[in-house]
Amino acid sequence: MKIAIIGASGLLGEGFLHLKTKHKLITTVFSKDSINNSTVLDIRKYNDVKKFVDEFKPDVVINTSAITNPEYCEINPIEANQTNVMGVKNLAEICNNFKIHFIQISTEYVFDGITGKYQEESIPNPISKYGESKLESEKITLQINNSFCVARTAMLFGWSKNKLNLATLLISKLSQGEKLDVIKDQIVSPSYNDNIAEILLELAEKKLSGIYHVSGSDIMSRLEFAKALAKEFKFDEKLLESISISEFNWKAKRPKNGGLEIDKISKILHTKPMSVSESLKQMKIDSIVKM
Ligand SMILES: NC(=O)c1ccc[n+]([C@@H]2O[C@H](COP(=O)([O-])OP(=O)(O)OC[C@H]3O[C@@H](n4cnc5c(N)ncnc54)[C@H](OP(=O)(O)O)[C@@H]3O)[C@@H](O)[C@H]2O)c1
Repeated sequence: MKIAIIGASGLLGEGFLHLKTKHKLITTVFSKDSINNSTVLDIRKYNDVKKFVDEFKPDVVINTSAITNPEYCEINPIEANQTNVMGVKNLAEICNNFKIHFIQISTEYVFDGITGKYQEESIPNPISKYGESKLESEKITLQINNSFCVARTAMLFGWSKNKLNLATLLISKLSQGEKLDVIKDQIVSPSYNDNIAEILLELAEKKLSGIYHVSGSDIMSRLEFAKALAKEFKFDEKLLESISISEFNWKAKRPKNGGLEIDKISKILHTKPMSVSESLKQMKIDSIVKM
C-alpha cells in the first residue's frame, strides 16, 4: 500500500519514520528541511494538495499536520483555522474526489476534561480555540465522506529531532541534574509516537471508518508520567517539582481530567496500545539510535 503521511516532520510524523513497514510511505514537510525525499506541502493551498495527491496517488492519506500549540491557536484563531480546518477540508475533499481513504488525526482536547476517560461516543465540548479547530476538522472530515476516519490521540511523547515533548524535556533536564516543574493535576493518556504511528498504519490498512481513540493504554497525571520516566531512566525523582495547572498563566484552557478509553481499537486491531512502562522501556532501548 502507498500511504501518504502529511506532516512527517512533526512528533507523530517522525514516529512513522522510525518504523519498519511493508508499506511505501510518502511523506510531506512544511517549514522544516526535507527529510527522506519528502515533498514540501502547505495543506492550505488547494491546488498544491491536488497536485501532490495526483502525482503520488496514495491508497491512504494520514493527516498528522496541524498547528498544535494551544497558546498560539488561542491568540491566532484565524490562522489556526486556516491550517486545522481549511487545510483539512482541502485534504478531505481532494481525497474524496480521487477515491482515496483519509485519516484525520484529532485530539483529546475536543473534550472539556470534566469527566475524563472519554469514549468515542462521549460528547465533545472543547474549551480552547485549538480544541474547537480540531473538533471542526473531525466534523468536516466525516461530512465530506462518512467512510473516512478520525483518530483521536493524546499527550504524545517519544524521540523527535524537531519537537521537544514532556519525555525529551525530562530527559534533557534530569540527566543534567536540573529541577523541572511538572503538572500534578492534569490527567492524560501518554502516547508513544512510534506505537501510535504503528496503530495508525493498521487503521490505514483496514481502511476503517468513523472515530477511534488511539492512545497509550494508561491514564495518569503528567507528574506520575514524569516519575515513571525518572524511575526507568534512573534519574533522581526529587528533581521533579509538583505544580498545579492553575499556576500557569495560560490563555488557552486545558482539559484537566482527560484520558481516552481505547477499548474499541484494542478489540479490532492486532497492534496493541502500549503502557507507559512498555513505552519508556522501548524509548530507552531506542535512545542510542534516535537521540
Ligand atoms: N502533541 C500532542 O501531544 C498531541 C496530542 C493529541 C493530538 N495531537 C494531534 O496529533 C497530530 C500530530 O501532532 P504533533 O505533536 O506531531 O504535531 P507537531 O509536532 O506540532 O507537527 C505538526 C506538523 O504539521 C506540519 N504543518 C504545520 N502547518 C502546516 C501546513 N500549513 N501545511 C502542511 N503541514 C503543516 C508541520 O510541518 P513543519 O514542522 O515542517 O513546519 C509538522 O510536520 C496533530 O493533528 C495534533 O493535533 C497531538
